[in-house]
Amino acid sequence: MPHLLEMEGISKAYPGVQALSGVDFALERGEIHALCGKNGAGKSTLIRVLGGVVAPDGGRILLDGEPVALASPAGAMARGIVVVHQELSLVPGLAVAENLFLGRPQAWLVRRGPILAAARAVLSRLDSAIDPAAPVASLSIAQAQTVEIAKALAREPRILVLDEPTSALAEEDAERLLTILRRLAGDGVGIVYISHRLAEVERVADRVTVLRDGRTVASLETGAVDRRRVVELMLGEELSHDAEFSPRVPSREHVVLRVRGLARRGVVEDVSFDLHEGEILGIAGLVGAGRTELVRLIFGADRPDAGRVELAGRHVARPTPRAMRRMGVGFLPEDRKRQGLVLGLPVRENLSLAALGRISRFGLVQGRRERTLVESLVRDLQVACASPEVPAGTLSGGNQQKIVIGKWLARDPRVLILDEPTRGIDVQAKAQIFRILERLAEAGVAVVFISSELEEVMVVSHRILTMAAGRIVRESVRREASLAEILLSATGAA
Ligand SMILES: Nc1ncnc2c1ncn2[C@@H]1O[C@H](COP(=O)(O)OP(=O)(O)OP(=O)(O)O)[C@@H](O)[C@H]1O
Ligand SMILES: [Mg+2]
Repeated sequence: MPHLLEMEGISKAYPGVQALSGVDFALERGEIHALCGKNGAGKSTLIRVLGGVVAPDGGRILLDGEPVALASPAGAMARGIVVVHQELSLVPGLAVAENLFLGRPQAWLVRRGPILAAARAVLSRLDSAIDPAAPVASLSIAQAQTVEIAKALAREPRILVLDEPTSALAEEDAERLLTILRRLAGDGVGIVYISHRLAEVERVADRVTVLRDGRTVASLETGAVDRRRVVELMLGEELSHDAEFSPRVPSREHVVLRVRGLARRGVVEDVSFDLHEGEILGIAGLVGAGRTELVRLIFGADRPDAGRVELAGRHVARPTPRAMRRMGVGFLPEDRKRQGLVLGLPVRENLSLAALGRISRFGLVQGRRERTLVESLVRDLQVACASPEVPAGTLSGGNQQKIVIGKWLARDPRVLILDEPTRGIDVQAKAQIFRILERLAEAGVAVVFISSELEEVMVVSHRILTMAAGRIVRESVRREASLAEILLSATGAA
């Protein structure tokens, strides 16, 4: 029997970048085939070719052994290829149900009753209690990601492609998705699965193909390999065991941020803690535990019902994001899209806009200082781009996220609050970001680090607060780890 899907010698060049050079990829019926690679390796580009979004420069695609031209997303969809892209594509102004059936016959949209019922049926396949009548704009990122996946399922695909579907999901939601994928595969659907959480890949995939610099470097049966091997193939080098990651434990002398009795009805209950100079404080907990809500209260993005915040011993009477920023507090919110990355502007300007104060004199940007700053950020964060002059929008998903982090580093904060900074970032860049945080801490910056991946919180933080139902339920201290351990922990829970 011919392969369900075969992609042969697919190439795609962008100005200054060969995104894909002669990539081969095959998918069978009932197979879950994972696609792995560092940020910028070409995963999303390959998937855009398959989804009819991007026309390849060369190569061919066969479905059931027949060559096909996938000239548009609609064309791909007509052949049963449904893609959940890395960037969410929902229309914020429309209701969940309307988004689920967008592009279907108009009658659906007019008859609200049936569409709501149909939407509820699709969402229930994901065990989701999201209200189908709710506007998409009111959803959390995790919920939006769930709706996006439901929308794909509603189309009854023959080939389902998921580009980092779980990057914003809590572990139990991700687990549920994996179960559903197994079931779909059991029904004969072919599934392409992209994720930086290699633990997931290891569990769910029948086969792993690794891309590096736009080429296929290996295709492995997952039974036969472990995560370490996948990471090595991604990086193109062996993981060394010896490099130690043993950060200096900060003295707890200077309290930089003091939080007392902070509360907001229904989300945060009576939270108190101190953050010290040079300390990395991790906040662990499940999605919905109140972590994001807590840091939003601290930063003044939401109003508390009770409690107080002190910065360097001074009571902040009315925290607002502007005032907090002026006092040296940086806040990277979990939602990258609303983060103000100007996609049409060069990487250089995106990074330097944030640091205008540091690189300008008498209102003039000093070219040399700007260049030095941008070059060092691009190097430290390992941003893969042809040059700092390319528009930020042309970077791969993970590399865009690095720029967002870079913007806050450029501001030289005294307190840095990071909410899920490593989403969509490859394991090597993650390890690099952890080192940067370490270095900042050594220079006295106090860091609050939130991540849904517990392993990650454990290796980065000096101290960890665990939240549940809006309260701090546990405080613990870090353990030492080797660099290889950190790299592996960045791939997900064991
Ligand atoms: N529209 C575009 N214009 C110019 N360059 C692009 C464009 N889209 C992608 N590229 C480049 O092609 C390369 C591959 O990007 P791609 O998005 O496929 O990576 P990826 O493997 O999906 O990475 P990530 O894990 O970060 O999502 C990158 O160097 C990227 O900058
Ligand atoms: Mg991508």
